[in-house]
Amino acid sequence: MKTPLRIGLIGYGFMGRTHSNAYSQVSHFFDSSHVPLRQAVCGRDEEKVRAFAKKWGYASYETDWRKLVERNDIDAIDICTPNDSHAEIALACIANGKMILCEKPLALNGAQGEEMVAAVEKAGLPNLVWYNYRFLPAVTLAKNIVAAGELGRVFHYRANFLQDWTISADLPQGGAGLWRLDAAAAGSGVTGDLLAHCIDTARWLNGDIVSVSAMTETFIKERVHNLTGQKQAVTIDDACAFLARFANGSLAIFESTRYARGHKALYTFEINGEKKSLAWDLHDMNRLSYFDHGVPGDRRGWSSIHCSDGDHPYAGNWWVPGLCLGYEHSFVHGLAEFLKSLDDPAAEKRYPDFRHALGTQYVCDAVLEAARTKQWVDVKQA
Ligand SMILES: NC(=O)c1ccc[n+]([C@@H]2O[C@H](COP(=O)([O-])OP(=O)(O)OC[C@H]3O[C@@H](n4cnc5c(N)ncnc54)[C@H](O)[C@@H]3O)[C@@H](O)[C@H]2O)c1
Repeated sequence: MKTPLRIGLIGYGFMGRTHSNAYSQVSHFFDSSHVPLRQAVCGRDEEKVRAFAKKWGYASYETDWRKLVERNDIDAIDICTPNDSHAEIALACIANGKMILCEKPLALNGAQGEEMVAAVEKAGLPNLVWYNYRFLPAVTLAKNIVAAGELGRVFHYRANFLQDWTISADLPQGGAGLWRLDAAAAGSGVTGDLLAHCIDTARWLNGDIVSVSAMTETFIKERVHNLTGQKQAVTIDDACAFLARFANGSLAIFESTRYARGHKALYTFEINGEKKSLAWDLHDMNRLSYFDHGVPGDRRGWSSIHCSDGDHPYAGNWWVPGLCLGYEHSFVHGLAEFLKSLDDPAAEKRYPDFRHALGTQYVCDAVLEAARTKQWVDVKQA
């Protein structure tokens, strides 16, 4: 007997599409007693939201998210709107007893995040934050290797997330498509947008980050704002680099920018242990680079594991061995983990919930404070 999970999606932009794809695919590839139904989508433009509902198979639509969260025929709300609306929508969902799947970052800052965590945990509602990269087979394999203790003592972690799309001084800030450049809507620049992903993966693989030292830069100081038509100060961080210490004693270096000419979305990480090292690159996402110091010296070297065999994480649920998965599968896998935990709420959760995302939010807050004060900052723990 299957239980329908009636989804209400808010926001039909980039993430609205990746999540809609996940809802339509997950039950064909992953077994669960819960089956997501595309019950309703919400957007402010009626013509566009109606067209989206038709294209992606939603049974109905709304133009006001408040109406959506009050509907009795919705079990879970998926928040795919810009960052400044996550807290308000999530708190309304909780008041209406809805499960929540919320896009990252959890909130604009730790204070908002704390309110969300307190409310959702008090209500006992299942909750997920879409830090999706951890659900790629190669990244999950890295987690399994680290969790098995195979690296021995960990010494170093390093990660980059590089883009180049904001280099032009003519690019405006704010409004549809460009809200990421407006601190009021985004909270921060690359720290909350890109480094948050690196921090989530790092904390999942290597544990808590306890202190940070950082520098940020805003290369273009003023841009025309799309909503006011005026030139206004840019207050997001265009670039950020930070050093970090983990609770396990390892050291880290993180860098993100939207000014690395030639890079569109290059996310890489490497972790170095006493016995083994692992490295991953989003542009070759099916592979995990693996170095094992335990093999005989004359055979030692970096190998490249193509994580597409039946016994690699998630891969066996898809096609035959050797074929590739892509970016969109990470969302299907995250959703599959969420559905699995609805089937068995007592089992260990393999997805980031609000509390875990609050820990990531605290690291982002500490990074921005460290850059502002030019001091090392201790990270609050969630
Ligand atoms: N997990 C990831 O890899 C990833 C990638 C991109 C974005 N995100 C996150 O997803 C969220 C959305 O980003 P995006 O890239 O999809 O943005 P987007 O601009 O493509 O889409 C945002 C959507 O929200 C809608 N919207 C805004 N305010 C609304 C309101 N009050 N009511 C209803 N709809 C509203 C917009 O019309 C648009 O459809 C952000 O929090 C972002 O940080 C996560």
